[in-house]
Amino acid sequence: MRSAFARRYDQLTARMEDAWLRRARADLLVGLSGTVVELGAGTGHNLEHYPDTVERLVLTEPSAAMRDQLRTRVNEAPRSFDVEIVDATADRLPFNDGTADAIVSTLVLCSVPALGPVVAEARRVLRPGGELRLIEHVAAARGWAHRIQTRLDPVWNWIEGSCHLDHETRTALAAGGFDVSGVSEAVQRGMPPLFHRIARGVAVAP
Ligand SMILES: C[S@@+](CC[C@H](N)C(=O)[O-])C[C@H]1O[C@@H](n2cnc3c(N)ncnc32)[C@H](O)[C@@H]1O
Repeated sequence: MRSAFARRYDQLTARMEDAWLRRARADLLVGLSGTVVELGAGTGHNLEHYPDTVERLVLTEPSAAMRDQLRTRVNEAPRSFDVEIVDATADRLPFNDGTADAIVSTLVLCSVPALGPVVAEARRVLRPGGELRLIEHVAAARGWAHRIQTRLDPVWNWIEGSCHLDHETRTALAAGGFDVSGVSEAVQRGMPPLFHRIARGVAVAP
């Protein structure tokens, strides 16, 4: 992600947060407990929604510009559990096998170059039955929108810095052995058509 985009991230996403995303984040994180790893935590929008039942929260984030803002947000509001910030990409997590009870990913899997290695890494780090909780914009269902996304993807990726329009996240999770029956996909009203199909819910590790 380009650092100029990172510095303006909160400003650019404010309307989306107010319209639906803040509420969706709160719903997503209900009931989490134990050791939780967040992928690409950005500026820390999920922080306020983690319940006190979490014991240890590790916020991974590869962008230095994002980590600066994340650190500020973490320091602003002390929590009852440990919070660490770690420089890492989602395909190489610095954790031992089976050590996380849950992984959280919101608007991150569009940013990874390929889903397969990230799904494999999430599976490695989660304990059996651990949860990957996600909110992600994904490829449109088949048809003209899907074809436009596929064609525009390289251009959009170059403009934005890392975001892909055509990731088939639910399919990649299922291929990686996750139970995706708790992941739904639907069009989110108010979002631009290029990324208005949102996958959300809980994928369970085998
Ligand atoms: C659209 S922002 C979302 C930030 C935050 N998760 C949220 O919900 O607001 C995408 C984030 O993914 C991070 N990112 C980009 N490539 C990544 C990768 N390969 N692995 C993990 N995170 C990545 C970016 O630095 C950025 O913070």
